[in-house]
Amino acid sequence: MRAIILAGGSGSRLYPLSKVSSKQLQAVYDKPMIYYPLTVLIAAGIREFCIITTPHDRPRFEALLGDGTQWGIAIEYRTQPKPEGIGQAFLIAEDFVAGEHVVLMLGDNIFFGGDAFPRAISEFRSGAAIFAYQVKHPQQYGVVEFDRDGKAISIEEKPQEPRSNFAVPGVYIYDDRVVDIAKTIRPSTRGELEITDINRAYLQLGDLHVRRLNRGFVWLDAGTSSTLQEASAYIETVERRQGVKLGCPEEAALVRGFLSLERFREVLAHIPACEYRDYLVEVAAEAERHRR
Ligand code: TTP
Repeated sequence: MRAIILAGGSGSRLYPLSKVSSKQLQAVYDKPMIYYPLTVLIAAGIREFCIITTPHDRPRFEALLGDGTQWGIAIEYRTQPKPEGIGQAFLIAEDFVAGEHVVLMLGDNIFFGGDAFPRAISEFRSGAAIFAYQVKHPQQYGVVEFDRDGKAISIEEKPQEPRSNFAVPGVYIYDDRVVDIAKTIRPSTRGELEITDINRAYLQLGDLHVRRLNRGFVWLDAGTSSTLQEASAYIETVERRQGVKLGCPEEAALVRGFLSLERFREVLAHIPACEYRDYLVEVAAEAERHRR
């Protein structure tokens, strides 16, 4: 399984924060936003990444994340000249998908809790696997409707009158047919290749699998200045209370075995003195204790 993180877009709702800096590079408490989806995917065992950014922001992402070797992963970059829809990711990254299964995650979605993603990724065989999460105001998302047996029967993009309260979060798993399906869909009235149209195509093929995320699961969308602030406050609260960090790719790579403890210490040596480094020193000491 390979992963695409979609980190383009215009970020207009974050203006003026997004005037010179990409939304997905903004701070969410103590880390850049993109660290969170990246860490979730590393923790799920993904090693091959393609990050799609605007042409303008690409050098900043490359400076931040490099080629991924510091985390034992591989990162490639592609650009999306205009925000012409989430579904366009599969046309831009066609050569990256190259016949493999692929997970697409939106760079401004923040997830915590449970093993829903690692399980969905390891159990994935074919078709499309998406998720459903109960929200109070589903109008701004893709909305999925279930029948009495819990089977998905419809999916609509930003409906004014939603048929359920189940929104589709920004993580989608597909087999390699997704590239051909993306080529057949046409732009919506707002001029975008809609991910919901791709999901609807899989639904029509009888191959859309929707997993419900339970209440304990956390999904935050940091797309406006107030939700960005809420996400930062949430992460600060959890990190202070528990003494662990969320969205730390070094730690996820160590836990997954992508980095040996020796390599982890080498990586640490390049990080300047700061709270983040202090935390990684503790993580290394803990790993050392477990090794004994
Ligand atoms: P949105 O939040 O829907 O769009 P946006 O980021 O352009 O923000 P705004 O609505 O405030 O202008 O996008 C969700 C995610 O998908 C976000 O991480 C950006 C990404 N995205 C792209 O990379 N390319 C696109 O064409 C679109 C529509 C979104």
